[in-house]
Amino acid sequence: MKKQFITFEGPEGSGKSTILKAVEKQLEAAGISVMSTREPGGIDISERIRDVILDVHHTHMDAKTEALLYAASRRQHIVEKIDPALKEGKMVLCDRFIDSSLAYQGYGRKLGKDEIFKINKFAIENRMPDLTIFIDIKPQVGLDRVSHNHRKMDRLDLESLEFHERVYAGYLDLIKAFPDRIRVIDGDKPLNEVIQDVMHLINNVNE
Ligand code: TMP
Repeated sequence: MKKQFITFEGPEGSGKSTILKAVEKQLEAAGISVMSTREPGGIDISERIRDVILDVHHTHMDAKTEALLYAASRRQHIVEKIDPALKEGKMVLCDRFIDSSLAYQGYGRKLGKDEIFKINKFAIENRMPDLTIFIDIKPQVGLDRVSHNHRKMDRLDLESLEFHERVYAGYLDLIKAFPDRIRVIDGDKPLNEVIQDVMHLINNVNE
């Protein structure tokens, strides 16, 4: 079966958004109909939820509130944008999806992977990714990249290194738990090579 719904995951500063855009261009050039989007966000309601979650002033946001807001934004995103595109036969590339909630809220916030999976089950029903590409870089390397690139830091970027280390350890656990779905790409290589590695992977799994 074709891998139609593909999600990109990774620590802060992994370069996945840039990689996703380049991959989208190459797939389109190859005649594949692609729709790219991101989480939290992708549509008006979910982008507004994103602003609430990532606002640096919301330091008092409860961890469960945060987890529910991510799940709510995901629900609307699926209903309004992801499912319709998949039904039209498009390949959907999504920058972050459920694994971000499992890693960040489940492990980073210590709410537990199973609890986070439960609330997300309610939100996504059976809409799991066909393939998840994890761009692998160490948290400290990614955070250094973010600060060197002068990207505005959001509330989650500003969490401690220990938080980001827990998120990374969480991703490693998820890779072990879902070895068929989650595939690892070395994000330390030069950007062009990483893009080619991702293209190879997508072409290979869809042969
Ligand atoms: P981004 O920086 O990749 O756009 O993602 C926004 C932030 O939101 C990033 O720090 C990861 C975090 N996040 C979660 O904590 N849980 C989620 O479910 C998602 C989608 C993102």
